[in-house]
Parts: sequence; C-alpha cells; structure tokens
Amino acid sequence: MPLHQIIQPDAQTTIYLWKITEPLSQLLDEVTLKDKSLQRLQSMKSEQHQRGFLSVRKLLQTAGYTDFNLHYDPFGKPYFDDGKHISISHSHEFSSIIITHRNVGIDLEMQREKIAVIGFKFAERELRFLNPESADYIRKLTIIWGAKEAIFKIRNEVGISFNNHIEVAAFDLASKKTTAVLNFAGNKITYELFFEEVENFTLVYAFEK
Ligand SMILES: CC(C)(COP(=O)(O)OP(=O)(O)OC[C@H]1O[C@@H](n2cnc3c(N)ncnc32)[C@H](O)[C@@H]1OP(=O)(O)O)[C@@H](O)C(=O)NCCC(=O)NCCS
Repeated sequence: MPLHQIIQPDAQTTIYLWKITEPLSQLLDEVTLKDKSLQRLQSMKSEQHQRGFLSVRKLLQTAGYTDFNLHYDPFGKPYFDDGKHISISHSHEFSSIIITHRNVGIDLEMQREKIAVIGFKFAERELRFLNPESADYIRKLTIIWGAKEAIFKIRNEVGISFNNHIEVAAFDLASKKTTAVLNFAGNKITYELFFEEVENFTLVYAFEK
C-alpha cells in the first residue's frame, strides 16, 4: 500500500505517512535520485533501510518535491531549497515526513514492550508521572521517547542528553499534545508537542514555542 495518511494540523503544516509494502525494485523504478542519494542508497546494508529511504522520496513526490530539492546539513538534518522546513522519520514498515514553515522535528516509533527496560535511561523524571502498571505505560513511554527524538532533530546539537536536558510535561493520551523543556547550554527552550497513533506506531512532532 502506498500513501497511508495525510494529516494537516494547520494551514501551513502537512504530515505524510507511507506504509512500505512495495518491493525495492518497484520503489526504485518510481523515483529519480540525484547521484549523491544513489550513492547513499547503495551504501545502505539493509533492504528495509533502502525501502525506507525510497519511500521518503515517494512522500516528497506526493508533496510536490523531488529528491533534487532535498539536501542535508553536515549533521544529517534535512532541508529544502525553497526555505520550507522538513523533518523525516522511518520505523519498520512506515515512513513519515512533516513539511511546514518553521523549524520542526518528527519521530515515528513502533510501540514495543522493551522500551520499558530502558525507560530509566531517557525518562528518569517523566517516570514520576507514569504508572508502570497502567495499560497506557508503553504508549506513554513511546511518546516521551519520540518527543525527545523530535526535539533533538530540531536542535541538531551535539551533547544533548535525553535524560538530563529534556523534560516532557505530564499528559493524557486523549489530549494528543503536551509540552517539553530543553535545558541545555545555558538556554531554556519550551516545545509544543503533538502526537498521533497509527496502528501500533507512535508519531510525535515538535515545534519550538
Ligand atoms: C539522528 C537521529 C535523531 C535519528 O533518529 P532515528 O530514530 O535513529 O531515525 P529516524 O528514522 O527517526 O530519523 C532519521 C532521519 O532523521 C534525520 N536526521 C538525521 N540526523 C539529523 C539531525 N542531526 N538533525 C535533524 N534530523 C536528522 C534524517 O532525515 C534521517 O533520515 P534520512 O537520512 O533517511 O533522511 C538519532 O539517531 C539520534 O542521533 N538521536 C539522538 C541521540 C541520543 O541522544 N540518543 C539516545 C539518548 S538516551
């Protein structure tokens, strides 16, 4: 199945989700890559990674762009040549992009029980408002992880610790939003966070307030 969903949170922001069911050969036939991207694709060891990369190019086409419009800074952060902001995430059979007018980060994660094992490594403070016995525990922990990845993708700064520098505020699943504060290198920045659940995946996107 190709394009899975389009979410339009506001007039200037669109999220595109792809469910990757096509074989590699089909995706390769359907996109045109610049030399740099072709080299990157060829250097990828797993076919799943390659299909994820190509599915993002399909999403770009859906949004009216091509691989030739997308570039990366030296840290790997993607940007467009027209000044619009883009963030990219892939996870297993899903990939997603968000396109908007301001700095943005997106993260897509599969909900997995094993995130509970590493919760203390990235969410020490948030564990105070989570209940490990609750049926929502894994879903909430996955949102917190995704929130921190999304904020990291906005800042794109070496040295940010998920546990020590980013704190997500308590939230209800039904509200589909929360906030977080990044306290790093002498700056305290608040982020607006929004989340969606698609099948057993969690999508989180963040904007600087
Ligand atoms: C770079 C990073 C954010 C990628 O996240 P991920 O969950 O591994 O993978 P995702 O599929 O969600 O995201 C990958 C995309 O992020 C984007 N990306 C990569 N580096 C980026 C950066 N420095 N800034 C913003 N976006 C970046 C790219 O578009 C990439 O996809 P593409 O290269 O195919 O276009 C992640 O690997 C990372 O370094 N995280 C922070 C490290 C950390 O502190 N982790 C553990 C704390 S306990």
